[in-house]
Amino acid sequence: MTQETTQPEVNIGLVGHVDHGKTTLVEALSGSWTDQHSEEMKRGISIRLGYADTTFRQCPGVEEPDCYTVDEECPDGEASEPLRTVSFVDAPGHETLMATMLAGASLMDGAVLVVSATEDVPQAQTEEHLMALDIIGIDNIVIAQNKLDLVDRERAMENYEQIQEFVEGTVAEDAPIVPISAQQETNLDVLIGAIEETIPTPDRSDDDTAEMFVARSFDINRPGTTWDGLTGGVIGGSLVSGELSVDDEIELRPGREVEEGGQTEWQPLTTTVRSLQAGNGSPDSVGPGGLIGVGTGLDPSLTKGDSLGGQVAGEPGTLPPTRNDFEMEVELLDRVVGENDEVEAISTGEPLMLTVGTATTVGAVTSARDGECEVNLKRPVCARDGATIAINRRVGARWRLIGIGTLRA
Ligand code: GTP
Repeated sequence: MTQETTQPEVNIGLVGHVDHGKTTLVEALSGSWTDQHSEEMKRGISIRLGYADTTFRQCPGVEEPDCYTVDEECPDGEASEPLRTVSFVDAPGHETLMATMLAGASLMDGAVLVVSATEDVPQAQTEEHLMALDIIGIDNIVIAQNKLDLVDRERAMENYEQIQEFVEGTVAEDAPIVPISAQQETNLDVLIGAIEETIPTPDRSDDDTAEMFVARSFDINRPGTTWDGLTGGVIGGSLVSGELSVDDEIELRPGREVEEGGQTEWQPLTTTVRSLQAGNGSPDSVGPGGLIGVGTGLDPSLTKGDSLGGQVAGEPGTLPPTRNDFEMEVELLDRVVGENDEVEAISTGEPLMLTVGTATTVGAVTSARDGECEVNLKRPVCARDGATIAINRRVGARWRLIGIGTLRA
């Protein structure tokens, strides 16, 4: 079967508590073509990026929502028509992976909150992920009430009401709630209809210079490859503005840590775009939206094991500054998510875990006043004035989301 090579135009996050069915849902919505990936592509980019793309389609002449599908052939044998191609960012639901979820959230244009009907609402990360969406400003949300095949009607209704009650007064207050079974692939047409309605493709200008948030990076060479057969390092993430083309020169910031005269400093890396991967193809150029893989001329040892995750890539000389410290305006949550304790004011000297774009770094507070603080970072970030920062504090054995910061000039 031939596939169109369409670049995804919107990033949709899958968020929610561990085991509620995010990965199963991504598979159900994208299974029709992920199976067709060649081994090489799997190995190379798609699988390691932890994302999947799919094209939502519509069967001509069929009423809504029955018309929505991801299959190329409609039940009546007619060919379906493509609506748009989307990328799914599958955020991990485990509590220890909150930083990964927050970094992923900076790439999301909207989100599907997956809630299992088999458990009471809210479970810890259902609440924490919703709070994170709120803080990062993602308000295009669809709720998938999953695992309907495992509960009876009465329990399903009760759970539905719990969800309604839980989202009242939150950013998801008006979100449609769609009962589904990801595993049995039930009601996915209604879910696709709700996503089409609720999560529009954002208006983006391609005129700006290219700026890419790097989420992951890797070395795609098989062990033992000799130097003349080596493929350059690969970075994966999303363009937030502009266009990237094969042969473009790019800069990565903060870059790499180098030691000079007993002092360490971060120096930007520059390289060339050798190949691009978007959707199910290898286009010559890509625009904003959707997740992309960029093959570069970098030494693969620089990109292996996600070592460039959290960096920003773009046209040399146009990227935001690298910051070893910054000042931010702070807005704290009323209470610590997942705990019932009030959030205490930030104090001088305390360590905070900060997520800025796809970067996560620990910062020591060097000065704290009402509504603002200054931090000194362990690892620098590349960020613009006005950037949004998710602030986490160590509570017991783990980092908890306590508020939002805005980077000040
Ligand atoms: P994390 O990525 O670890 O946060 O989990 P997840 O939310 O991605 O959950 P996952 O998709 O891995 O599903 C967890 C378990 O629930 C698996 O065993 C799935 O087969 C099962 N599951 C998911 N959706 C359904 C469903 O609709 N019905 C039933 N019966 N089982 C489901």
